[in-house]
Amino acid sequence: MLRTHTCGELTAKDIGKSVQLCGWVQSRRDHGGVIFIDLRDRYGLTQVVFDPRHNAEVHTTAEHLGREWVLRISGKVRARPAEMKNEKLPTGAVEIITDHLDVLNQSVVPPIEIEDRKEAGEDVRLKYRYLDLRRPRMQQNLYFRHVVSQAAREYLSSQGFIEIETPMLVKSTPEGARDYVVPSRRHPGKFYALPQSPQLYKQICMVAGLDRYFQIARCLRDEDNRVDRQPEFTQIDIEMSFCTQEDIFGAGEGLMQNIFQKALSFKLPIPFQRIKYDDAMARYGSDKPDIRFGLELCNVTGIVAHSDFSVFKQVIDKKGIVVCLNAKNCASFSRTEIEELETLAKSHHALGLAWMKVKDGKLDSSIVKYFSPKIQEELMQRMDAVEGDLLLFVADKPKIALGSLGQVRLALGEKLKLIPHEKFAFCWIVDFPLFEWNEEEHKWDAAHHPFTMPKEEHLSLIDTNPEAVRAQCYDLVLNGVEICSGSIRINRSDIQEKVLAAVGLSPSDLKEKFGFLIEAFQYGAPPHGGFAPGLDRLCAMMLGTKDIREVIAFPKNKQAQGLMENSPSPLSAQQLKELHLKTELIHPGEKK
Ligand code: AMO
Repeated sequence: MLRTHTCGELTAKDIGKSVQLCGWVQSRRDHGGVIFIDLRDRYGLTQVVFDPRHNAEVHTTAEHLGREWVLRISGKVRARPAEMKNEKLPTGAVEIITDHLDVLNQSVVPPIEIEDRKEAGEDVRLKYRYLDLRRPRMQQNLYFRHVVSQAAREYLSSQGFIEIETPMLVKSTPEGARDYVVPSRRHPGKFYALPQSPQLYKQICMVAGLDRYFQIARCLRDEDNRVDRQPEFTQIDIEMSFCTQEDIFGAGEGLMQNIFQKALSFKLPIPFQRIKYDDAMARYGSDKPDIRFGLELCNVTGIVAHSDFSVFKQVIDKKGIVVCLNAKNCASFSRTEIEELETLAKSHHALGLAWMKVKDGKLDSSIVKYFSPKIQEELMQRMDAVEGDLLLFVADKPKIALGSLGQVRLALGEKLKLIPHEKFAFCWIVDFPLFEWNEEEHKWDAAHHPFTMPKEEHLSLIDTNPEAVRAQCYDLVLNGVEICSGSIRINRSDIQEKVLAAVGLSPSDLKEKFGFLIEAFQYGAPPHGGFAPGLDRLCAMMLGTKDIREVIAFPKNKQAQGLMENSPSPLSAQQLKELHLKTELIHPGEKK
């Protein structure tokens, strides 16, 4: 190695040692002839001194050093004068008095400062990602991610799971997003898809008798980016044979415990709460509830059905519901504050947000006149409403009423500072519907994917009442974010055919799309199931952010572009020719 120590290593116990350090110039200060440099590498900063009285030649060279130049220095460790000690730096008690300086490389003036306190704009950070990644916080984040991956590998290996790589050039998988596709040079007009997840392959590993599989798997999905979504992301992908849902929860909880222990030295309490999908929706208005705080929703349809308030009555007549939230102590909210909540509810498709305040022991608002004293009394009792409380109502189709008031709940949680941000609150959401109604195509779709096993006791409902069928399917939610999902898979062809028929897949569609899986399943597919925590989301949440780009070395921007390497980019005429392709672009809106 060109160095004897790293820049984060030397302390008072090293005083007097001759050392060699390598690193980048973080800053240069000229204090009346003596030059000080903070030399930086992944491990920290060390103060390096160039004193003309000690060595005039290196001092002269040091006068020309710029930010981010790469140096190798040799010298002796000495104590810093008492007034120059820096308690905040691990190396803050010492400095190196330089005997020898090699400039290993120069740098042009960097467009961003390598400083956590001076974060550059998003585009600049992504374009000059190598400079952004030099910042201590990004280096720590990537190290943290490494520790999480290692902890996952360690735990899963200890439980008999084996790491198996599955192909990147595949036939499309049934995850439901758009595929990224790769043209084949050797098969003109044919395309591979990049895997949305290794779903089918991991199931085939079970057919192959591998029993316990895992992979830290790259997944690619052509969908709109959000702070917690990237076109390329990573899953800790897991599948196991001869297991029940509870066995999978055990593996998931053990995995999370080991990860939190190793990466944060935090002992996660297990088992995690299990909440049925219907209950999560009813209580929190979300299938990814943030259970760090209460403020639960309440269905008051039965109570207000007999009121004279036509807005509620019309909704109820059309099989809609009325949901209420008691914002404790919020009767003091101004009209503007309530309007802000209403705007939020409307942005989640509600038609409005009705409200009543508890004042002088009674409900008070422009609409209370439509509610008899008995109904008001019942409402106050059901909502546990006391002086100073504010009741908020949304009436709509169940999904919209619950979903929009659920968003209001989250906003109120933040506004009222009800959320303990330092807490990690996990829960398993269980008993998801097997199917979901596709409004556009007027058909049932598989809610997770079409290989999810229905609950045994609901098998007979598939033909008669698909809406009521619940699946052996689950999500793991952390602080209101979906961290992971999975299911027990269908391994019997009679059930598989029934489910596929219910989502409108013909036998020929089936053969075309999933023929190889169905074929494999004829040869003794064991009962199996699995799950896949999103590694990026998990790391981000553990570090207290929802922005997964903070834990990805080279993420794409919101438009799915790689700003550093400038991707996507056109192909050369020669490349297109080799691929047997001509590009004729159809612009959005143009008919072809
Ligand atoms: P699913 O599609 O729910 O399930 O994905 C599992 C987990 O992966 C993460 N995730 C993402 N992270 C970042 N960017 C994205 N675009 C993105 N999409 C998903 C989430 C999510 O919970 N094959 C199944 C799993 C199984 O059934 O075993 C699957 O992929 O954290």
